[in-house]
Amino acid sequence: MKIAVSSDHAGYELKKEITSYLKEKGFDFQDFGPLTADPVDYPDQALLVAKAVASGAFTKGIIICGTGIGISISANKIKGIRAALCSDVYSARMARAHNDANVLALGARVVGVGLALAIVEAFLNEAFLGGRHEQRVAKMMALENQ
Ligand code: RB5
Repeated sequence: MKIAVSSDHAGYELKKEITSYLKEKGFDFQDFGPLTADPVDYPDQALLVAKAVASGAFTKGIIICGTGIGISISANKIKGIRAALCSDVYSARMARAHNDANVLALGARVVGVGLALAIVEAFLNEAFLGGRHEQRVAKMMALENQ
């Protein structure tokens, strides 16, 4: 599994915690920046990760802004992306099991570090259930053509 990670300035500190966690756990990941806490626009950062995942070069993405809202809306504009904004572990598990989400969005001003890492762990470890969820995910993706 290859993971693409990015944030805006509001998510910068939490991104550092998450990349440290991914490194410690031995995940294969790439940090798409930013490399400082200077202001950047979340759509630009969302695009980097969304393109990386949509292209197939990366399996999953993790994106962080202040609320997680702007960066998740932005990522979901890119074809092939199913970005889920999660603030609890259950939602992160269901985002994978039922929705086959390929990008996790977090709000650094919403969740603390401990909860954020638990959400990341749940998201990365939960598998898509398939079955009855297949056609729903397919219908969801067909909405891209409306
Ligand atoms: C930046 O101040 C903030 O607007 C951004 O991180 C995010 O919360 C937007 O959705």
